Parts: sequence; C-alpha cells; structure tokens
Amino acid sequence: MDTQLTTEIARRRTFAIISHPDAGKTTLTEKLLLYANMIRTAGMVRGRKAAKTVSSDWMQIEQERGISITASAMQFNYHDCVINVLDTPGHQDFSEDTYRTLTAADSAVMVIDAAKGVEAQTRKLFSICRLRGIPIMTFINKLDLPSQDFFDLLAELEDVLGIKTSPLNWPVGSGKDFIGVVDRQTQQVLLFEKAGVGGSQKALVENVPLAELLQHNRIPERIREQLLYELELLDHAGNPFSLESFLAGEVTPVFFGSALTNFGVETFFDNFCRLAPAPGNKVAYDSSNEEVQIDAIADPFSAYVFKIQANMDPKHRDSMAFMRICSGLFERDLTVKHHRSGKEVRLSRSHAMFGGDRNTVDLAYAGDIVGVINPGFFAIGDTVSMGGGFNYKSIPKFPPEIVAGIRPLDVLNRKSFDKGLQQLSDEGTVLVLNSLRSGSNENLVAAVGKLQFDVLQFRLESEYRVRTKLEVLPYRYGAWLVGDAQNFKPTSSSMLAQDASGRVILLYTQEWERKYVLEQNPGFQLLDFQY
Ligand code: G4P
Repeated sequence: MDTQLTTEIARRRTFAIISHPDAGKTTLTEKLLLYANMIRTAGMVRGRKAAKTVSSDWMQIEQERGISITASAMQFNYHDCVINVLDTPGHQDFSEDTYRTLTAADSAVMVIDAAKGVEAQTRKLFSICRLRGIPIMTFINKLDLPSQDFFDLLAELEDVLGIKTSPLNWPVGSGKDFIGVVDRQTQQVLLFEKAGVGGSQKALVENVPLAELLQHNRIPERIREQLLYELELLDHAGNPFSLESFLAGEVTPVFFGSALTNFGVETFFDNFCRLAPAPGNKVAYDSSNEEVQIDAIADPFSAYVFKIQANMDPKHRDSMAFMRICSGLFERDLTVKHHRSGKEVRLSRSHAMFGGDRNTVDLAYAGDIVGVINPGFFAIGDTVSMGGGFNYKSIPKFPPEIVAGIRPLDVLNRKSFDKGLQQLSDEGTVLVLNSLRSGSNENLVAAVGKLQFDVLQFRLESEYRVRTKLEVLPYRYGAWLVGDAQNFKPTSSSMLAQDASGRVILLYTQEWERKYVLEQNPGFQLLDFQY
C-alpha cells in the first residue's frame, strides 16, 4: 500500500463546530487558527462587533453568505494533523444546508456557553450528529465569566442530549478565579497566565503536577478545597472514558476553557487531534442497491457533492460544486465516473479555500473538500468515483415548513428570474414549484425557514438584477403525491404543485388535513419527505 497516501489520510481531521449562536464558535475557530500559526494575532473578534452594529438586515445576510462563500471548508496544518474545518452556517434558521455540511464531517466539536448550558440550536445540531453517528467532543466555554455549577452542566448535557459525558479535564476555579485545568489522566495541571489583550496572543502556560500544586499552597485554600472535592466526586461518580465509546458516539469527552482568553484552548485542540477520527469507511450502495463499504485508504478516489454554490465569483458567474473526498487520492483534472448520469466527467479547476482565497488544488486526499467548477451538471448528493458502480447514501431532504408565491416585479426580467430561480434551486436552499391550480402559472418556493426566502430575494436582486415580490402562503406542510394528480381533489385549504422533475407535491396547512384529504381521495398515497 502507498505509505504516503496512508499517512496523509491518517492525519486528516475533518469536522464541524456546532453551537448555539454566541456560544463562541467563531472565537474558538479563530483561536484554532492562532494556535495553528495561521494568524499571528486574533483580532477579528472586536472588528466583528462594529460590523454587527452598523449592518442592515441585508448586509447581515451578505455577511452570513460571506462566511459560507469564503470558508466552505478551511484547511490548515495543526502540528502533525491536517485540519479541515467545515463551515456550518451560523444563522438561527436551521436549514438543510447545515445538515448537508454535517454529512461531510467525520466528527463534531460542540461548544457550550457555561452560563447558558444546552440551548435550542445546539440541541438540533446535536441530534443530527447523533443520527449520523458522528463522534462529538464538547468544549465548555466562557469559564472566565460566572457560570452554572459544572456538575449541573454535565447533568444537563446528559439529560437533554442523552449522551454520557466524561470530563477529560477539570477547571481550577471559575469566573475571575479560573486559573487552570487539571488533566485527569496525567494528573498534570496547566496553570494560565494572562495572555495578550482579549486573547489576541497565545496564553502562557505553566505545567505543574497536581500533587505539587495541592501541597505548595500555590492556590487559594477555597479553590483548593473545592477542586479536591470535585475531583473526588468525579472519580467516584463520573463516567469512564474510552476511545471506542467516544467513536461510537456514546460518550462525549468534555473540556473546559475560555476561547476569549485562550485558557484551555490549546490542550483542547491537542486532544482533538489525538482523539478525533481520521477518515474511515463509508457506506455506499451498488447498482443493485446492496450495501458496500468504501475504505478511505484502500479504495481509489471517490467523493460526493454536498454543497453547490452559484455566483461565487461575480466576474465569472460560475457555480461551484463542493465535494467531500471519501476515499483515495484526487489529482487535478482527474476524469471520473459520474454515477447518476453514467457519464465520464473531468473535474476541472479544482479549488480549496483559505479565508477569502481560492487556491488551486493539485492533490487532495480522503477527508479533504475540493470545489470544482459546475457547468450545471452536478446536483447535491451526486457521487463520483474512479471505477463507478456505486452511490453514497443520499442526502435526505427536509420537509418544507414555509411556502410563498414569487414573481419578478418587472415582467421584462422574466428570463433572468427563471435562470436565477433555477440556479438557486440547484443549490438546494429552496424548492421551486409550479402551482397546479387551474389557470395559475404561479411560481412557488418552499423552504425550511423564512431566512431562506430573504436570502433568495436578496440574491435574485444582487446576482441576477431581478427585484421580486414574495408573498408567504398559509401552507406549512408538504408531502409527495402517489397517483394520477389529474384525478386528485385537494381540499379548499390545500393545493397541488409540481417540482422541476415533474413530481407532484400536496401543500397543506394543518397536520390533520393529510388524513382527511386521503379519505376524500381513496386510492392515493402521500409520501413524507425523508429526514
Ligand atoms: P458564535 O460564533 O458562536 O456566534 O460566537 P462568537 O465567537 O461570535 O462569540 C459571541 C460573543 O461571545 C462575542 O462577544 C465573543 O467575544 C464572546 N466570547 C466568546 N468566547 C468567550 C469566552 O470564552 N469568554 C468571554 N467572556 N466571552 C467570549 P461580543 O460582545 O458579541 O462580540 P465581540 O465584541 O467580542 O466581537
């Protein structure tokens, strides 16, 4: 076996950071860049606040898009590891985009605000990781501020998320008194000294054996007593940690720190590299729908498209397809088999991202993300591979929860409007439908949240120069119709529509209507969107 290939794949860590807004995801990501020596000082954090306060709603959307455009995935080295951090959109509206991104991760880092505990968005994102069986590491953040009782926090994680916690380190003091963390395995204490203002520089750390710290009255008696009590309690009542249970998603190793002051951040990253999995086997399906295991190292190049983004470069109006490489080695301009069409395709102009820069990729390995130019050919979920003959597990669609009618304000813009709608629906943020109501040729859009509509209108205007009128309709549910739509009679508060591939969907307003409408139309079936 090619030893270079084996080494390269084994040192890759591809992950996403999940958290509720404001828990500190951006700050932690920035500190990862600081400790990876990718930036010399961490200063963007303060700049962001200024940007936040002056920005209008539109600008905020653009900023959010900005993040996902520039940093679909960032790659850099951290010690011996190659880190691929996937960007999960930070907005409140949980979307399919986030879900799709998580399918490309081998592990996740969950950031929890120590004062707030488990919040709504964390819960949703966590459940997705759970569903995918992704191992999760937990970073309890903002220890420099007053926080909840640490045992209460662990209990909340266990109760609300249903995962066992196993603290691998434990804080010495908290809030103003947060001065270090104990590594429970090595029984060494990392004592922190103040870092540069706002944590712009790496923290200075002193490594002291726990026994020595406790003997030499180096810390106030109150903190010492508390620490001794807590460590003893943990030894008796805490969950044991094993790599197997972490990789199986049964236990989450917990670390404490403050992303802002850098306390506990470096040891967290070191442990992340040590514990988080490298790319491994992935399940795929062959032509007869039988399950096959694709091995990251032993199998030749294969990948799937998890994200499509149009108009990344306003000068070229191109669309990029982002692929997660699942096995083998990618070389520039590689010709591969595209499973859905059965055709051969050349993966041209491949890129990886750091910050706002696109870099041409000559070589990439399993675990990496590459963006290739998409001449309208790739769809989300498409599999490409050297030998062909198999497809990766499809990426599920979310049921729409909001539907709207949309039209261009100026009918002369119809052509650009249609093109824009088509390209943006290829990205998968909205589902574009045509009403099947007699006499109506209204365009409908369906999405998981209102934010997707705001983004859609904003992008139609900024990228396609089409101003639109959008009216939210009362439908909150959608299900695919099986049977001849011509003979189906919707109720007065439901309607039929068709997607681009001709599939018919029933849109309805109340959950109970589904049963009722089927009673009125015997012989028909309604299929759920798959989660
Ligand atoms: P997010 O990406 O998860 O939404 O969170 P982000 O990193 O933007 O952090 C949200 C706020 O919390 C920021 O403050 C950030 O500075 C602060 N923060 C993050 N980690 C810590 C920490 O460990 N301790 C403390 N005390 N604060 C932390 P902000 O006032 O909203 O913005 P800014 O002026 O700092 O940019």
